[in-house]
Amino acid sequence: MSQLDRKKDWWIEFHDDHLVDSLLESRDDLEIKKTLDFIVTRLGISKGDSVYDQCCGVGSLSYPLAERGMKVIGVDRVSTYIEKANKRKLNDNVSFFEGDASNYKIDQKFDGAFNWWTCIGYEKREADLGMLKNVFVSLKSNSKFLLDTMNLVGVIKNFKKEVSIPYKSNDSEAILKRTTEFDYKTGRMIKKWQYSFTNKEDVIKHSSVRAYMPWELIELFKESGFNEIQLFGDLDGSELTEMSPRCIVEGKKCL
Ligand SMILES: C[S@@+](CC[C@H](N)C(=O)[O-])C[C@H]1O[C@@H](n2cnc3c(N)ncnc32)[C@H](O)[C@@H]1O
Repeated sequence: MSQLDRKKDWWIEFHDDHLVDSLLESRDDLEIKKTLDFIVTRLGISKGDSVYDQCCGVGSLSYPLAERGMKVIGVDRVSTYIEKANKRKLNDNVSFFEGDASNYKIDQKFDGAFNWWTCIGYEKREADLGMLKNVFVSLKSNSKFLLDTMNLVGVIKNFKKEVSIPYKSNDSEAILKRTTEFDYKTGRMIKKWQYSFTNKEDVIKHSSVRAYMPWELIELFKESGFNEIQLFGDLDGSELTEMSPRCIVEGKKCL
């Protein structure tokens, strides 16, 4: 077990503004559009329907979805992200709440739900199972849930120990250098995140996320009560292969 895994609450320090600037808010309009087109189509939702954005971050997907006329509730356990999301609140169709999605109770049933961009694996499998069971309970009968995470088979096949991602921080150039290692004993991906700026000192953060094989995700879905489980490899609905950029799992509450 690495030192980071022993530090149970590593995610509090990790989820800062640098992650928001370099990744969460770096998606352009086209990527957001493609993501939402996929989510709306697969969930079979339309204007006026209620949607649960589980692990919503700063609301990067909740907002544009609410603009399309859906009623969105977003939950995330990082208080500063929920504060940011609420500050942007220009739309009455969206609300945000701080909470741990593995046990957060929402007194409402939704027409659809999603959990986007690798929000599972932060803790133990039981917590991930809790997250899926919780979302299952929050859905109306015959509604669907989508989970988007890394495609582990592809990550291994095309393994890159180091990647550099240029981005803008307060309108000036910055670079995120990310170094990845596998912990073979725990199945976790341990990453070092080094943010470099032109005008200030580097910032270094760490993360430790359990990576699941697709069949392990299917097991989690089944154990949570989902049926009609399907796998996709990309936002065009293509089949999951070792070349796919993502692993997207869909499940239906058939009660
Ligand atoms: C990579 S971000 C993705 C955010 C958002 N889904 C998006 O697409 O912009 C992962 C998010 O998952 C949240 N998260 C992870 N585990 C969580 C949990 N148990 N409860 C609530 N939020 C969680 C983190 O706080 C973080 O905001």
